[in-house]
Amino acid sequence: MTTYAIIGGTGLTQLPSLMIREAVNMETPYGMTSADIIKGEFAGSEVLFLARHGHPHRIPPHQVNYRANLWALKQLGAQAVLAINAVGGIHRDMPTGHLVVPNQIIDYTWGREHTFYEGELDHVTHVDFTQPYDETLRERLVDALRECGYSHSEHGVYGCTQGPRLETVAEIARMERDGCDIVGMTGMPETVLARELSLPYVTLALVVNAAAGKSEGAITMAMIDRALEQGMDKVKTVMGEFLSA
Ligand code: HPA
Repeated sequence: MTTYAIIGGTGLTQLPSLMIREAVNMETPYGMTSADIIKGEFAGSEVLFLARHGHPHRIPPHQVNYRANLWALKQLGAQAVLAINAVGGIHRDMPTGHLVVPNQIIDYTWGREHTFYEGELDHVTHVDFTQPYDETLRERLVDALRECGYSHSEHGVYGCTQGPRLETVAEIARMERDGCDIVGMTGMPETVLARELSLPYVTLALVVNAAAGKSEGAITMAMIDRALEQGMDKVKTVMGEFLSA
């Protein structure tokens, strides 16, 4: 049976229906993980749960220790990763509350520790990242979404910005011209670090606001919190369906 790592994003710092066996506080060669890694059982599967932003939520996207997180999950036996991400919707068919299984990603971040392949190396390595997400896991996640009947998109381009500020109207217009459908701050380098560790990785993204300029007025945290509260139950149901399939 596959051991899944679940990386919970904003709005998912704990899993109430997780049967907890152990909480592991782990120091890695890259430093500490965002929070204790919870080993347990969820929907009949062995899982390792990690709150990306810490528990309670306190680490901003640009300060998450992505390398420590991925390295520790692999070390503890993760064989695949299901990442949960809250995002802004750029594409008009991806409104608040919509779920997206992205198939591509564009990295707009800078200055993050984004690779394990540096320092004293025997040889230089360039991992293939043509298809950033694992297609088999994507298909399984799409099946779970169809089963649950929630409004969702089976493809999409995730644009990852540096944050922690939200984007300007012009930045979102540029991202749209680039082909981005959703915008978030945590997809990279997490996705590529999983690839460097040969961990199949898939993202379930919940749209929690219309991206800058895609609705009237400013984006407020109250708006995002409301959408998270309404959307996370759907995310948990899909996760259950995905893991028990
Ligand atoms: N932009 C970037 N990241 C986000 C957004 C957004 O509008 N909403 C949630 N995460």
